[in-house]
Order: sequence, then structure tokens, then C-alpha cells
Amino acid sequence: ANTAAPRHFLDLKDLDATTLRQILDVALNMKAMQQNRRFPLHPRSPLAGRMLGIILSKPSTRTRVSFEVGIRQLGGDSIMLSPAEMQLGRGETIADTARVLSRFVDAIVLRTGKNDSLHTLAKWSSVPVINGLTPTSHPVQILADILTFEEHRGPVQGRTFAWTGDGNNVLTSLIEGAVRFGFTLRAATPPDMRPPQEVLDWAKREGGAVEWLQDPKEAVRGADCVVTDTWISMSDSEDEAASRMAKLEAYQVNANLMALAAKDALFMHCLPAHIGEEVTQDVFEGPHSVVFDEAENRLHAQKGVLAWAMGGTDWVSFGKE
Ligand code: CP
Ligand code: NVA
Repeated sequence: ANTAAPRHFLDLKDLDATTLRQILDVALNMKAMQQNRRFPLHPRSPLAGRMLGIILSKPSTRTRVSFEVGIRQLGGDSIMLSPAEMQLGRGETIADTARVLSRFVDAIVLRTGKNDSLHTLAKWSSVPVINGLTPTSHPVQILADILTFEEHRGPVQGRTFAWTGDGNNVLTSLIEGAVRFGFTLRAATPPDMRPPQEVLDWAKREGGAVEWLQDPKEAVRGADCVVTDTWISMSDSEDEAASRMAKLEAYQVNANLMALAAKDALFMHCLPAHIGEEVTQDVFEGPHSVVFDEAENRLHAQKGVLAWAMGGTDWVSFGKE
């Protein structure tokens, strides 16, 4: 049995900057390889015979498809597991599920509505657990965002990102990304939707340039990248939807707000988008928007994460011939 601690990918703050940068390098190399010769997608099938279990207790398009396609392109395979169809849905514990799945699959992606579930799974699993979104974080999304920025504008270090909208899971991971990759982040949210204080405190302790603001204009002014996300996340109660939308109205990314950013600023959104709510049609479809490059880069970023988590000591060479 493999006694080494599994390489869980739970949050960006758990990994050091060098490792995160290596994951992006591998992702970029594999993207180039895929584009240069479409088949075979990866000549060495480095994850041949490896099985990825994907447990989604919430809907997903990008996360699911990017992991399923990504593992296959690396020579492995995946199975989709819906908690409702598993004994998990009838009360089998996560601890037992983790120990059983560890005997069948080589890594597990989990999207869950309960933060504890991710940590319990990781505690009991002897194979790597990858965070596919929780109510408080979405780390694999931010790797794709950084990849996208750098493809369009070069190194992210020293640049300025602005967030405007809800202080949600994607923002928390963006804060962690800002610290680890060395960019400035100004995040504007309504006061009662601020990112968690412990995340802001952590960023400060790490020496990060992360600032919370109330005014979206102040956040966006001069920024190199403007990022937002839905105003109602999967973990938010629908009962609060109307009151949340009212508070968030002033945080919409529209042409007026975008005009305050740097002239060549990028607009990003993890998707799915709600046009007329957090972003207007003209910005979403306009020249600043790179949202579909961002979505595509989920695939490449995911392959970097899979390489790190499952690729053994050889993983950094995955994107090389
Ligand atoms: N951005 C993102 O994670 O999308 P899905 O919910 O479709 O996976
Ligand atoms: N903040 C959103 C992201 C969806 C990918 C949610 O949690 O629903």
C-alpha cells in the first residue's frame, strides 16, 4: 500500500507558490501539446489506467466536463457518482465512503454543499481529494482564471484585479490566489456580504495586497482585470434572493463601471452568468470579455491539478514530450 500522504487539492492556501506555478506550467504545456497535434491528445498517456471518481452533490457543467475530458486526455478514465444514487444518500458515512472509494479509484473530485464533507472525505481518503467547489471556496476555478489572464496579458504578478459583487466562494479562492501568485486584489461587496474575516486576516498575515472595499468604483478604477460572479450561489437560500439582488444592484459590471478600469482590462466570470444581474450583455459579449477562454482553461488547469495529484514524482514532465 502507498503510505505517503495523498496530495489533496483542497484550497490554494494549502499549496506553496512554487507548486501552484508548476501546476500552471504543466497546464500550459499540455494545452500547447493538445493544440499542436490533436491526436493522440497526450502521446505518453501519463495517467493510463487511473480512475477518477467524481462526486457532485450540486449541478455542474464546466467542472464535470473538464475533469472528465481531462482525465481521459491523460489516458485515464472517470466515473460520475451522484450522492442521491449512492448509499451516501441513505446515510452511509463519508468516512466509510472515503475508505471504500479509496480501494476503487485513484483520486476523488468532490463538489459539495457542506464544507465539512470535503474535509472529512480528505481525512479518511487514502487517495487525493480535489475540491470541485464548496460553499466557501472554488480553487480550481482560480487556476483557470490566472492561466487566462497570463495568456492574454503576461505575468499576473504585480497586476491589479478587482472583484465586484457577492463575497462568495469564488472570491475567497481569488483572495488566496492573489496572495500565492502575487497580484493586488481590490474586492468590493456590500458590507454584509464581505469575504470571511479570517480569509482577509490570513491574506494580511501572508503579506498579500488584498483590500476589501464597499465602493465598486473604487475597486475597479485602473484595474487590469474585473471579475464577478452570480449574486445567488448554489448554497444561498432562494428566500433571500430578492433582498440579495437589491443590495447587489450597485455592484453590477456594466459599461460605466468597466470604463473606470484600465483601457485594456479583461472581464472574467466563472460562469454560469446571469445577464442583466451581475453583468450586462454589452460587457459580457464585449471586447474586454474573455469568459469562454476562461471556461476552456478549466480543462487545461484541471489537467495540471490531476498531474500534480496523481502523477507521482514525474508530474512536472507531463506537459513535455
Ligand atoms: N464555473 C464552474 O465551476 O461551473 P460549473 O458549475 O458548470 O462546474
Ligand atoms: N458562486 C457560484 C459558482 C458557480 C460555479 C456558486 O457557488 O453557485
